[in-house]
Amino acid sequence: MKNFVLISIFCFAVLGGIWIANAEDKVPYPDGYRNWVHVKSMVIFPGHALEDPFGGIHHVYANEKAVSGLKSGKYQDGSVLAFDLLEYIEGGNALQEGKRKLVGVMEKNSSKYSATGGWGFEGFAGKSKTERLTNDGGKSCFDCHASKKSTDYVFSKLRD
Ligand code: HEC
Repeated sequence: MKNFVLISIFCFAVLGGIWIANAEDKVPYPDGYRNWVHVKSMVIFPGHALEDPFGGIHHVYANEKAVSGLKSGKYQDGSVLAFDLLEYIEGGNALQEGKRKLVGVMEKNSSKYSATGGWGFEGFAGKSKTERLTNDGGKSCFDCHASKKSTDYVFSKLRD
């Protein structure tokens, strides 16, 4: 009985350790991003190169460290940018926001994400904070962002 208890404790400790390690490896959902600084918006129509999967209306948000990065061109660890993509509804000579399609995230951590330019890339489907969209460690995201090496792989610019 004593052995069983000890083995059980050991297993829980190992599984717990693996669970924590996995959770730490992954880019977290950007909680509270709607209270961050709005950087810019853009509408992507059918026929645009980014239509699949980024067709719709998106807003880019930056946390405090990412705002400093947008100004200086150098992003400290802890900088996070969120790409909030919604469907658009066309009608009455206007475009309105529709349902959320996904939230794209870039989190800076030079050592953890050294394979992808120091940025962790992730997408979260729809309204979900847990349904992840990347399965290649963000490589396919980075392949496109790689063209923006001169601005630390960030496309967006801060405007007045
Ligand atoms: C084919 C090119 C391409 C791919 C692939 C791509 N992006 Fe982007 N991404 C862009 C462009 C272009 C912008 C700038 C959009 C704008 O100007 O509003 C952008 C903007 C962003 C931003 C806002 C910060 C910035 O760089 O302006 C985030 C966050 C982001 N993408 C995350 C992702 C994630 C996560 C993935 C993978 C799931 C991904 N991107 C894949 C082209 C791409």
